[in-house]
Amino acid sequence: VFSHVVRAPEDPILGVTVAYNKDPSPVKLNLGVGAYRTEEGKPLVLNVVRKAEQMLVNDRSRVKEYLPIVGLAEFNKLSAKLIFGADSPAIRENRVTTVQCLSGTGSLRVGAEFLARHYHQRTIYIPQPTWGNHPKIFTLSGLSVKTYRYYDPATRGLNFRGLLEDLGSAPSGAIVLLHACAHNPTGVDPTLQQWEQIRRLMRSKALLPFFDSAYQGFASGNLDADAQSVRMFVADGGECFVAQSYAKNMGLYGERVGALSVVCKTADVASRVESQLKLVIRPMFSNPPIHGASIVATVLKDRNMYNEWTIELKAMADRIISMRQQLFDALRARGTPGDWSHIIKQIGMFTFTGLNSEQVAFMTREYHIYMTSDGRISMAGLSSKTVPHLADAIHAAVTR
Ligand code: LMR
Repeated sequence: VFSHVVRAPEDPILGVTVAYNKDPSPVKLNLGVGAYRTEEGKPLVLNVVRKAEQMLVNDRSRVKEYLPIVGLAEFNKLSAKLIFGADSPAIRENRVTTVQCLSGTGSLRVGAEFLARHYHQRTIYIPQPTWGNHPKIFTLSGLSVKTYRYYDPATRGLNFRGLLEDLGSAPSGAIVLLHACAHNPTGVDPTLQQWEQIRRLMRSKALLPFFDSAYQGFASGNLDADAQSVRMFVADGGECFVAQSYAKNMGLYGERVGALSVVCKTADVASRVESQLKLVIRPMFSNPPIHGASIVATVLKDRNMYNEWTIELKAMADRIISMRQQLFDALRARGTPGDWSHIIKQIGMFTFTGLNSEQVAFMTREYHIYMTSDGRISMAGLSSKTVPHLADAIHAAVTR
């Protein structure tokens, strides 16, 4: 009965790892998925995470009972504080509801399903380009997906005028997906002044902000600085949705830890929204897993562990920034044609190189370098040892 089933293509991002794993070459390099690697090219478990896990294991009072549908209460409270700030009026006034979800994707999905059921506008505007999973998540949730201009290939920077024009002509009330910081895949963020203009335009048209915050702390190395865009929208008293992921900033990728927060106008609305979020979650995954959220809560609630985390986080962000400089210098040293200054201007985990899909295919075929076909490279997968190999490959690709 399933003989008609056609083979689906691999995922454009996670499929890169599948291809990489099959390649026997000793010089192969995976710059596809956004996952942090050490200078030795190894995955990293943060010391503070190991410490938290040890504490959890040693605590014999801990059991494996189901969490409530909305997850670990302490985790939810601390997550809201992390993104909105300890002194956020929305938290003080109990206008925020936060539910634990399965990392960024799960949080986006729960938020989108809620919106499809309870919000009068079913259209969501996503940036062009954006993370490949966004359109799929929102379409499957029952929203209608449209795009707004974001990236300008000519300047390899923000198409701010295009962005304002497209949001300016969006229907009143439409939902707008915003990357809180370190835009994926471009590494291009609005400045704070530009954020303020976006906020004013969106509020004047009652557009609903839905933030995807997957890189808090990874863009600048500073958790508060990377939450500025979200906090601007919360400070004006309006509604907003935020999906948070701890995959990158706490290195908890496979633990699938994240949170969805909905900032409402009143505490009463927030509690009714939460009651409906439970109806979305229960038939989807019943209740979230306990381990990863317990790690996060353990780290966030202890001042010393929190400080230790910020130091480790900053070290990851700094290593990525140094990779940018090294790659830029290596291309300059080779006299590679083109202006590569965007490599040091873009921020976060990725560089949107401007290489086309043919050049990417060439680099994979000839140099065993794996990356997404849109020319995005994960800087976090690079090390001082592998920079020359990548620079050689880019040089060869653009001078063929
Ligand atoms: C990425 O963009 O590489 C990451 O967000 C990982 C993923 O799930 O796609």
